[in-house]
Parts: sequence; C-alpha cells; structure tokens
Amino acid sequence: MKKDIIQRYDEMGGRIYEERYREEQQEKYRWANKFLEECQLTADIGCGTGLFQKTRGGGFVVGVDASAALLEWARQANQVGLLVRGDAEQLPLREGVFQVVTCFTVLQNLEDPEVGLEEMARVTRPGGVLVVSWLKKRFQLSEVVKHIKSTDLKMLELCEDNNLKDWITLLSKSCKNS
Ligand SMILES: C[S@@+](CC[C@H](N)C(=O)[O-])C[C@H]1O[C@@H](n2cnc3c(N)ncnc32)[C@H](O)[C@@H]1O
Repeated sequence: MKKDIIQRYDEMGGRIYEERYREEQQEKYRWANKFLEECQLTADIGCGTGLFQKTRGGGFVVGVDASAALLEWARQANQVGLLVRGDAEQLPLREGVFQVVTCFTVLQNLEDPEVGLEEMARVTRPGGVLVVSWLKKRFQLSEVVKHIKSTDLKMLELCEDNNLKDWITLLSKSCKNS
C-alpha cells in the first residue's frame, strides 16, 4: 500500500474530498448503475466517503478503503454502515462472494493495478460483474485493455464519454472461474 497517498486522503478529509469530487464521481455512478440491479451483494473497493454506497441505498454494499478519515466521514456524515478498512491489493474479503464489485478512480493509487484487479476478480462470484473506472490521466485506453486481458475477466461495455475523466469498464467473471 502506498502510505503517502493514504496520508494525503486522510489529511484532505471527507468534507474537502466531497466538495472537490462529489459531482464528477456522481456522473460515473450514473453510468454504472444502468447495468446494476437493486439488492445485489456488492463490494465497493476504495469506497472513500461512501458516495457510491449512498446511490445504492447502502444496505447491500460493503465498502473497503485504506483511509481512516474518509471511512469515518462515510460512517458519520453519510451514515454508511458496512465499511472495512483494508488494502485494495490485499482485500480483507472472502473469495467468490460478491455479485457485483465496483471500483471508482482508485487503481491509479495502487503500486500494481493488475494486483488490484486480480483481487477484485477473486472476491467476485463466478458469473458476477465488475464496474471499474480508470483515470484517463494515468491510463491510456490501450493500457486498460492490456490490464484486463491479463486477467480472466471479459469486457462487456466501455464508457468513453469525453466529459468524464475516467474510462469506465463493465467486466464479467466467467461462471467457470471458481
Ligand atoms: C479518488 S478517491 C475515490 C473514492 C471513491 N471511489 C469515490 O468514488 O468517491 C480514491 C480512493 O482510493 C482509496 N485508496 C487509495 N489507495 C488504496 C489502497 N491501496 N487500498 C484501498 N483504498 C485505497 C483512497 O483512500 C480514496 O478513498
């Protein structure tokens, strides 16, 4: 885990994070939620202040993040209940449990984004889906495709909206991968 990055998020805190990023993140969730059904057991990796969980009613979404300050904001200000402090490259979650795994604007922070992607694939149930967004400033589209190809995940949809700062990918985990 990159401790300096987490420290930066801790120092920023939930209020400033949301003032800066809430609006642009909401656009990404809108695209993702078109593909997701209500009540699917979901893990949101790098959940930050729990903004995505709030769009899903919160009840079926477990959030994982490394920043204690952002998790605290999620709990106190956003009343999100299901939160775990942990590292996206070593998820404290069991294998093959989640119907949906989401990850918005987090992979640019990891030492090895492929490890993060593998971890997300591991905790996804066979036949489940993932929504993963990739900061364009950090990842060219060809790199996104390469990272996905390095896993057993399959790309179902790609959001290339020029107004968004991320590529957003909808991925599936094959039923055969148990
Ligand atoms: C740009 S924010 C995105 C937050 C949230 N996904 C959203 O949509 O608002 C990046 C998040 O990744 C988290 N993060 C960075 N490195 C991490 C790691 N190794 N493990 C878990 N979370 C991490 C940060 O604490 C921060 O909450």
